[in-house]
Amino acid sequence: MNNKIIVAGIGPGGEDYITPAALKKIRAAKFLVGGRRALEQFAAANQIPCAVTRDLDTPIDFIRDKLTLGNVVVMVSGDPGYYSLLDRLRQTFPPESIEVVPSISAMQLAFAKIALPWHDATLLSFHGREPARAALEYSAGKILGLLTDAEHNSATIARLLLDKCGWDKNSVVTICARLSYADESIVTTTLDDAAQAEPVKHCVLIVREVRS
Ligand SMILES: C[S@@+](CC[C@H](N)C(=O)[O-])C[C@H]1O[C@@H](n2cnc3c(N)ncnc32)[C@H](O)[C@@H]1O
Repeated sequence: MNNKIIVAGIGPGGEDYITPAALKKIRAAKFLVGGRRALEQFAAANQIPCAVTRDLDTPIDFIRDKLTLGNVVVMVSGDPGYYSLLDRLRQTFPPESIEVVPSISAMQLAFAKIALPWHDATLLSFHGREPARAALEYSAGKILGLLTDAEHNSATIARLLLDKCGWDKNSVVTICARLSYADESIVTTTLDDAAQAEPVKHCVLIVREVRS
């Protein structure tokens, strides 16, 4: 069978950061899988949609079923190669049946927003997981790029870095929320302030020693 599961990134939200290649695949799809927000944004009346919710068995069954009839396009936020459903798809389907179409990751856009190269940064995710403590520990010149979630948010992570990972209270953190949306918010402050401020839940945190 030559039909493919096409995993297309949709960028962090706003349509400026989805690649034309991904958009083309999404527009051409007959079978379209994605979160409710992605389906609202991209699904057309002639497409057969399947919503991704917490229960991943439903979209997996849909993909298995529809793959016998044609290609299935799966939309994921940001870039597929960076913390997405791609892991689970690779555990379930042979890699040869998967094609990945990249878009811009929230992590990429966050670093771009403060004009800071990310080639030397330590990139970690707190989204539904906790990174190893050693990877978070302070060292001179270290830059952390962190994905968050509701539980591991700007305040709890700032507190963890201060109390357990050796970061100074005057270390700098940029809190990037709602990237690429009209209400995008990018705030640079100290770790000490972030630990005491109202938590920002889903965001990217960029932490470093000094403002740069
Ligand atoms: C499961 S990860 C998905 C990452 C995605 N594959 C990517 O490349 O951006 C979800 C996390 O990405 C971050 N994120 C996604 N979209 C964002 C946005 N528009 N603004 C800020 N952070 C965002 C948040 O930390 C969120 O909890």
